[in-house]
Amino acid sequence: MGFALGPLALSAHTRLEAFESIGSTNAEAVSRARAGERGPLWFVTDRQTSGRGRRDRAWQSPPGNLAASILEVMDVAPAAAATLGFAAGVALEGALQAVSVEARMRAAGLDAIRFALKWPNDLLAGGRKLSGILLEAEPAASGGLAVVVGIGVNVVAAPEATMFPATSLHGLGIHVGAAELFTALAEEWARLKALWDNGRGFALIRKLWLERASGLGGEVSVRLAEATVSGVFETIDDAGCLVVRTASGERVPVSAGDVYFGAAASVGAA
Ligand code: BTN
Repeated sequence: MGFALGPLALSAHTRLEAFESIGSTNAEAVSRARAGERGPLWFVTDRQTSGRGRRDRAWQSPPGNLAASILEVMDVAPAAAATLGFAAGVALEGALQAVSVEARMRAAGLDAIRFALKWPNDLLAGGRKLSGILLEAEPAASGGLAVVVGIGVNVVAAPEATMFPATSLHGLGIHVGAAELFTALAEEWARLKALWDNGRGFALIRKLWLERASGLGGEVSVRLAEATVSGVFETIDDAGCLVVRTASGERVPVSAGDVYFGAAASVGAA
């Protein structure tokens, strides 16, 4: 295991609980919030047995992959809390950039891999899913909103036969461990969470996110529960919705759905 927090996380009074194996770090964080924990507290492991993904999907976390959730009770409205996932994406991209540059310099002096953020809460490497983020929130009994941000990274292995193709850091030739990546992630999280500033700093987070966005300005299809919206991925708005400019010129903000880009946009629309 060997998980540890760095100086920035510690100076933000963050604590850490590490597990050899656990069902789901998000489930643990939610249950601890219900028992009165207010955080900020990281739950981390390199093996989950019943990891959960967005839209009630399962998330596979075999031994060696990173699964981490941060719990914090905040004085924010649910709509503002929803924008925290974008700060998590930017933090994760920064952490991956830092560890991969170091790992690649150690290995062979190769160029760093480019990572991109995919709306709403995925991170891609070479167009494949490397990481997913799951945000959960509920009112805390003692007041405020208990917010859990769960982050899973395919460090040593990626699942096969998934809806979107996946990859892992080791598969990309980036030989870092879950513990090294976690420390970098918790440091970047402390930095981005401070910039987010209970939602008041979302304009800056949004700008940072858009600079790292996948598919911006290109063809997109967003498959919703009952329909599909297709057009050009114009931006994300100040609520974090993906804005699609349709062929008729209409701007349609979408708050949830599966996103397909480029040639796959027509598949998504099928
Ligand atoms: C997704 O892409 O669907 C989101 C996946 C989120 C997975 C992480 S792993 C750590 C945390 N614990 C969980 O059970 N899920 C999140």
